[in-house]
Amino acid sequence: MDVRRRRAYLRPIMLNAVRILALLLILALGGLWASAWFGRAPGEGVAESFARRFAGLTGGEMPAPSAGGVQLPQGMALGGPFRMTDHTGRAVTEADFAGRFLLVYFGFTFCPDVCPTELGTIAAALDTLGEAGGRVTPVLVTIDPERDTPEALADYVSRFHPRMVGLTGTPDQVSAIARAYRVFYARVQRPEMTQYVMDHSSFIYLVGPDARVRTLFRPETTPEQIAQAVRGQMRGG
Ligand code: NI
Repeated sequence: MDVRRRRAYLRPIMLNAVRILALLLILALGGLWASAWFGRAPGEGVAESFARRFAGLTGGEMPAPSAGGVQLPQGMALGGPFRMTDHTGRAVTEADFAGRFLLVYFGFTFCPDVCPTELGTIAAALDTLGEAGGRVTPVLVTIDPERDTPEALADYVSRFHPRMVGLTGTPDQVSAIARAYRVFYARVQRPEMTQYVMDHSSFIYLVGPDARVRTLFRPETTPEQIAQAVRGQMRGG
């Protein structure tokens, strides 16, 4: 076949491929639109919901890290009301922390490495803040309520900071607060280990006096960066 004839032979195949691709794209966008329609948050428009979903597809929902924390996309609200039991055995809600800034971490006391590192970072950020650190309460929310009783939490949090609060609860309460912060956690039993471990996402959340998350910090954010972000949020009110 000479070149011209090959081109003529290929053209219908190419056209068909383009048609099929276009059709697939329309179907995918239509599906996304339908899921946006049915999965709207209360009060949210279809377009907003669509944009949120599209951002989620492209990984744009969790924004890139920046100095001083990750900015939450517009319309993404984390945090809010909860019912838990603190490390002294007292039933608490978000109202018990009203008017205070919180640095919140979700983890568990059996965690071999990541949790202690992140809780140490929170404590160091409070030290860096000096007097302003007094307006911030450090909080560990356990995602392992089966083992993390108030007693276990009391012993654990006191190792990191004298004012650190431990929160535990029923499995339903823990699941509800984790959902509100979009925290992922799962129980993992490895055959070679006698004790199970918990797989979990690892962000430090800065919560404002209104119980809403202001910003979140990825692992390896330095105490100085966190302190700087807290100062910025305190100035903003
Ligand atoms: Ni951990």
